[in-house]
Amino acid sequence: MESKMKAAGNVSLNVDGKEVLFDVYSGSHGPNVIDITKLYKETGMFTLDPGFTSTASCESQIAFIDGDEGVLLYRGYPIDQLAENSDFVEVAYLLLDGQLPTETQYREFRHDITYHTMVHEQFKNFFNGFRRDAHPMAIMCGAVGALSAFYHDSTDITDPEQRRIATYRMIAKMPTIAAMAYKYSSGQPFVAPRNDLDYTENFLRMCFAVPAEDYEVNKVLASALDKIFILHMDHEQNASTSTVRLAGSSNANPFACIAAGIACLWGPSHGGANEAALNMLAEIGSVDRIPEYVAKAKDKSDPFRLMGFGHRVYKNYDPRAKVMQKACHEVLEAMDIRDEPLLDIALELEKIALEDEYFVSKKLYPNIDFYSGITLRALGFPTDMFTVLFALARTVGWIAQWREMIEDPSQRIGRPRQIYTGAAQRDFIDRTKR
Ligand code: SDX
Repeated sequence: MESKMKAAGNVSLNVDGKEVLFDVYSGSHGPNVIDITKLYKETGMFTLDPGFTSTASCESQIAFIDGDEGVLLYRGYPIDQLAENSDFVEVAYLLLDGQLPTETQYREFRHDITYHTMVHEQFKNFFNGFRRDAHPMAIMCGAVGALSAFYHDSTDITDPEQRRIATYRMIAKMPTIAAMAYKYSSGQPFVAPRNDLDYTENFLRMCFAVPAEDYEVNKVLASALDKIFILHMDHEQNASTSTVRLAGSSNANPFACIAAGIACLWGPSHGGANEAALNMLAEIGSVDRIPEYVAKAKDKSDPFRLMGFGHRVYKNYDPRAKVMQKACHEVLEAMDIRDEPLLDIALELEKIALEDEYFVSKKLYPNIDFYSGITLRALGFPTDMFTVLFALARTVGWIAQWREMIEDPSQRIGRPRQIYTGAAQRDFIDRTKR
């Protein structure tokens, strides 16, 4: 990646009478950055920023979020335009390459992804080691990490061709592995991918087809799921993407890095929120119990939070949540689900929360996870598969960000420092004298 930061003056810091100048850079959108690379050398001090609320970890040209305006761009294109007009394969190409593909580029890329969807026959043995009631995300952590044991010919991260093949294998095999995790937990036989289906149709068939009868993909549902995958593909330096970058900074192989991202995404504060949000709506159970749960969410002594609400960056409505809510109505209509009490609770909860001073003052809005659970359940997925679907889509962003980091000449192994407040240095005392 060639840097496109633009010099934007400097700022000075006065440390014990010594003035230290730091360069400031601007990007295409968003806040300027202060380059503090030399801070320790010049001042003998570190910065402290737990949670990285004011820290840019890298330069990136893939996604951009304007949290105040509620805008998300993938390579400059607004997420709602891509969700409405594009498809998974084309947006994956865009995130990886930086430009929308021509028809020829699209067809070639789609062919390459399609012909990498099968997994090694021995890979199936991994699943037999898991209990049938294992959480599918636990299976994904183990299975994706194991890919390194099968594809030695694409783990040399210094070889651009091996990076390309590993990228295609990762994107192509995630649906197959995710569907295998689902089938394994349901006790049904694995269904192999088919080359005559598009990416998302193939995934739906691998999940819901059974050998006992033919399976016809519902095009409306496939289109809605394709849109949902696009919404989840990338999101700047979120916790799981930062995990992938940090793992990759040690030159670990890409399969291991993606497995690290899956593990981080599983947390209920991150990708696990879609599963937690649906469970929360089910626990609330009826519209008249909403005030009780809103009060719990506001009670500092109560650890309960409204799952699917709030965001580190969005201090406005998550643009993905708007598209997700639309997709939710499309799926419910396509499935002829006229009465979905969880949706009624979600709509009323959103209305109450957005009028409540606590949520307004803290700028807490629904995020992508608020409506996704209802939609995915209507598509036929069990709750514990929701974060697996998030990981399937986010693999595109993770691998695009991983490649950008590997190809960034300024990248070094990530190694944060700390402020130490433990015991001051002291000498060992023999146990007989303690
Ligand atoms: C994702 O980073 C990404 O981009 C992530 C993601 C992606 O695409 O990769 O967008 C995907 O992870 C979406 C977020 C999913 N998580 C949830 O829905 C879980 C519920 N939300 C929260 O736990 C919380 O909002 C976070 C984790 C999302 C953000 O946490 P922050 O930025 O650290 O904010 P915070 O915890 O400091 O909260 C600020 C204040 C606090 O109150 P005060 O201490 O200032 O009094 O807002 C309160 C919090 O208590 N608050 C909530 C709340 N979220 C924040 N109060 C009630 N309910 C909530 N959901």
